[in-house]
Amino acid sequence: MPDRIVDLRSDTVTRPTEAMREAMARAEVGDDVYGEDPTVNQLQELAADRLGTEAALFVPTGTMGNTCALLAHTRPGDEFLVEESAHIYYWECGNYATIAGLAVRPIRGEHGILTAEAVEAALRGPNLHFPPPRLVCVENTHNNAAGSAWTPEQLAALATRVHARGLALHMDGARLFHAAVALGVDPRAYTQHVDSVMICVSKGLSAPVGSLLCGTRAFIDRAVPLRKRLGGGMRQAGIIAAAGIVALESMVERLAEDHLQARRLAAGLAALPGVAVRQPPVPTNILVVEVTAPGWNSERLVSAWRAMGVLSNARPPLAARLVTHRHISAADVDYVIEVTGNMLAAA
Ligand SMILES: Cc1ncc(COP(=O)(O)O)c(C=O)c1O
Repeated sequence: MPDRIVDLRSDTVTRPTEAMREAMARAEVGDDVYGEDPTVNQLQELAADRLGTEAALFVPTGTMGNTCALLAHTRPGDEFLVEESAHIYYWECGNYATIAGLAVRPIRGEHGILTAEAVEAALRGPNLHFPPPRLVCVENTHNNAAGSAWTPEQLAALATRVHARGLALHMDGARLFHAAVALGVDPRAYTQHVDSVMICVSKGLSAPVGSLLCGTRAFIDRAVPLRKRLGGGMRQAGIIAAAGIVALESMVERLAEDHLQARRLAAGLAALPGVAVRQPPVPTNILVVEVTAPGWNSERLVSAWRAMGVLSNARPPLAARLVTHRHISAADVDYVIEVTGNMLAAA
């Protein structure tokens, strides 16, 4: 492995900042299963305030937050509708089926965005042969769709139709702040349209651990025992929540820098002959890149980059994913463009 490593596999590789480590060291703590951890309570209030919801619940992972949301909105035997490459459907171990007991209607989106028409077309009328549809899940930004950000207008249009059909709407907002920063809007421009939202502080916001499930007081009251059932009742969790507070208070605006480096990387790679960069209408910090020359595929691209210290994740069969984050500098981006050009010239 070369000396220089540029780790573009995910923004989850970001390490806590010094301010986070200090806040963690001096966090006031209590037993959060009794609701007595003041730092967890502070983080939950802060998240609810930033997202304009009545309440929030600190959970160890985004996967657990999404699973609690599925359980809180539905009953076993219900149906949920979701974009076909969404994390909650594609990457969460089938929890919707094995834990929540749900039937699923996957729907193809445009750049990960579900339209009201597509959802309407997938909804089947009441019939005793069909599981009753109960919930629609959206993802913003959409990880598998190259970090595609929804506009608040797109979400509003979908929400109107979903609610008119009597269904609930959950947003997997693991990277919701990335979307809000890309479009220069308040996250509440999105969250006002949904019944629940999950956000992660552990991704580009650089906290070591944690996500928040946010919604009405009644929804969160239902989610608390569900988190316990899933094994997510933590004790002196203020130690990690302290970093989450720093993340929400001081790490959101800097995401613009990650978007800028992603744009530079996309432009530099796309200018190389034989490289295609998949770009959604509103890009953020995720690129999906393909070498179109004959003989290239995901595996070859990931290993050719790896040999030069550039770490990526395969998106089979042909592409690889690159994610910018706090540890990726402008010089790292220049380096990746340069070595990719050399690699293709030598191939
Ligand atoms: C869009 C999205 N949702 C949910 C998750 C799950 O988060 P976690 O890894 O904390 O379970 C991820 C993780 O990468 C994600 O990208």
